[in-house]
Amino acid sequence: MRFLLTGGAGYIGSHTCVCLLNAGHDVVVLDNFVNSCPEAIRRVEQITGRKVALYEGDCCDESIVNHVLDREQIDAAVHFAGLKAVGESVSIPLNYYENNLGATITLCKALAKHHVKRIVFSSSATVYGDSKIVPMREDLPLGECTNPYGWTKWMSERILRDTAYADKDWSVVLLRYFNPVGAHESGLIGEDPTGIPNNLMPFICQTAAGVRPMLNIFGNDYDTPDGTCIRDYIHVMDLASGHLKALEYACEHKGTEIFNLGTGEGCSVRQMVEAFERANHLTLPHQYAPRRPGDIAQSFADPAKAQAVLGWQATHTIEDMCRDAWNWQSHNPHGYRTENPAE
Ligand code: WQD
Repeated sequence: MRFLLTGGAGYIGSHTCVCLLNAGHDVVVLDNFVNSCPEAIRRVEQITGRKVALYEGDCCDESIVNHVLDREQIDAAVHFAGLKAVGESVSIPLNYYENNLGATITLCKALAKHHVKRIVFSSSATVYGDSKIVPMREDLPLGECTNPYGWTKWMSERILRDTAYADKDWSVVLLRYFNPVGAHESGLIGEDPTGIPNNLMPFICQTAAGVRPMLNIFGNDYDTPDGTCIRDYIHVMDLASGHLKALEYACEHKGTEIFNLGTGEGCSVRQMVEAFERANHLTLPHQYAPRRPGDIAQSFADPAKAQAVLGWQATHTIEDMCRDAWNWQSHNPHGYRTENPAE
């Protein structure tokens, strides 16, 4: 089958491209390269030996999305495209609402116009808000998101659910990612944050590479076994295979379904640091620092529904994630760029 991936040159999108191409499907990518670059697609083609139909453009631009759908006969779309920096979303909320909600609405209207009413949406566990209930199940009432980025995921889910409710021909699959980390085993593609990383693993990798002098562990006084926050880290290639299963499901069913994509295993920040040091035989400079506002103590998935309905489960270990993340970082100290991003 032939799938459109909006934002397909990004971290999760590029790894999903590899998984879909290796499964024999064709891939069309629409990306404005705000948080990515064409080099990622070139490397996807290098890894798979297959071509990607690549279009540069903004998902909010109806003419561009319709142009792609006029030219490409697709069976379903995966909607990755969106701004995703939690902290930035707090300082420029209107940009986030305009871009992320606008892209979702524009894409759905163009898909409907081309009679392609199948979409897999890149949602996030952030929609559970500051829930104290773990593990998180898909039927857990949605919480209060702690930032505009999270609200755009929450609202996009609502937009998609209402679209499928109004038109029974739609198939909508909402994938709630927990914490994606790691990289393809080749080390050719990986997470390439712009500027100072917000997320734990890229910060660990840049600290190990000497790009950052020290990892600050935000808080060691949480109500957890070692006092540091617990998250459900999932290897990006497991996340990618979850998208393959979700697309197969979307092409065989109608209506809306929600799936957690997580391992179901919680891992603390301290455990992640120790696993990274062990997997890569290095010492990571780190210190404890005050809590980061907005962090919750624990977040991890109940992944049973994806296993039962999609036949999917994560297979990579924390050590795999640490090894593959470091392999990418150490072979690509400046990501896909040539100049130093730290400057
Ligand atoms: C994980 C833990 C930090 C950096 C975010 C988004 C979420 C999703 C995944 C998109 C926390 C601690 C971090 C550092 C640290 N993204 N940490 N030092 O906050 O769980 O989720 O990314 O969907 O929407 O909110 O991930 O990697 O930022 O933090 O101690 O330098 O690592 O406090 O406990 P988070 P994270």
